[in-house]
Amino acid sequence: MTTPPINFDEDINRIGTHSVKWDMMEKIYGVPADQGISMWVADMDFRPPAVVQKALQSMLDHGIYGYYGDDASYKDAIRWWMKTRHGWEVDAGAIFTTHGLVHGTAMCVDAYTQPGDGVVLFTPPVYHAFARVISAAGGREVVEMPLVNNNGRYEYDFDAYDAAMTGKEKMVILCSPHNPGGRVWTREELEGVAAFAKRHDLVLVSDEIHHDLVMPGNTHIPMATLPGGIEDRLVMMTATTKTFNMAGSHVGNVIIHDEGGLRAKFGGGRMAAMGISANSFGLFMAEAAYSPPEGADWVDQLVAYLDGNRRLFDEGGINAIPGLSSMGLQATYLAWVDFTNTGMSRDEFTKRTEQQARIAANHGPTFGLGGDSFLRFNLATPRARVAQAVERMQAAFGDLQ
Ligand SMILES: Cc1ncc(COP(=O)(O)O)c(C=O)c1O
Repeated sequence: MTTPPINFDEDINRIGTHSVKWDMMEKIYGVPADQGISMWVADMDFRPPAVVQKALQSMLDHGIYGYYGDDASYKDAIRWWMKTRHGWEVDAGAIFTTHGLVHGTAMCVDAYTQPGDGVVLFTPPVYHAFARVISAAGGREVVEMPLVNNNGRYEYDFDAYDAAMTGKEKMVILCSPHNPGGRVWTREELEGVAAFAKRHDLVLVSDEIHHDLVMPGNTHIPMATLPGGIEDRLVMMTATTKTFNMAGSHVGNVIIHDEGGLRAKFGGGRMAAMGISANSFGLFMAEAAYSPPEGADWVDQLVAYLDGNRRLFDEGGINAIPGLSSMGLQATYLAWVDFTNTGMSRDEFTKRTEQQARIAANHGPTFGLGGDSFLRFNLATPRARVAQAVERMQAAFGDLQ
């Protein structure tokens, strides 16, 4: 570690800053921000590293905000990060910059599927915006292949998926690491997904936005590093925004090594047809973030802090409440809590969380129908607030003790 310790304990008031997480929580969950704890949408209550703030400051000091050009150093920064942090060699020509990865997903659906096609998601649960963009694309169908909840750990069942395929499916979207549930997929599991995509001739879109937020003891394997010839069907998606907490800068990368059809359809095809070019603020921030040593040290410190929050929330808190069970996170800061064994209806446990504990947490069904008995809690906030959330949940479900 070469940078000074980062103070993730600092309580930064975000109310009144157009923060969706804090300024929309009352409207969506009925929990007033000044008395409540916001634990829903996936951004963090921490400032990004100083090196990102400095990059923005130098833009402000210069004071001219014209069109961005010459992205060589930006692409070098991405290549450096993927190589040093993930052991993945990326070609500069493979990188396309989108306005974030929801946009990247929508672009893939647009580029690689037609009305009448199906897009496979491994659900429930999975990040809800996948289904939203597929359904909104017009005529495309979300094809849900259920993960198996094996004692609090999501796993695949490829035999069942093979049996359920109809032939209309053209694409599969993988969430790796998985949100919610926090699985870091093993090499065997990733090979299983790749083989499934090959067997059914699907374009495989691998959303790896959570790849830097991996808890100690786990290793993320980029889908692109698997041997075995999936390059010609693989689209990788990564971003600085989740890692460094700058989602509002709306910048993401779609990385396509296949120089044939996949790259041409995406870049020269749909990106060009839609007139998409990048936002200079996002590019400046992303390049600064992917830097040695500051950006990299900051992430190491962040992950250690999130791991502490996760332990406090799970081991010291939620799992001690009879009937509640927080899935062991291997990655992400998004705790996925199962209320099945409380015997309560969804209305009841949601009401207690929102009205008694005054916590805004994502409702499980957002992530697919099987999410009925779950709430998702965002732990990327100062530890004191996580401790307060645990105390409030213990009080709200005190009659179960
Ligand atoms: C798996 C996954 N993909 C994409 C996103 C959002 O990406 P973006 O903000 O770049 O659109 C999220 C946000 O939580 C996510 O969990």
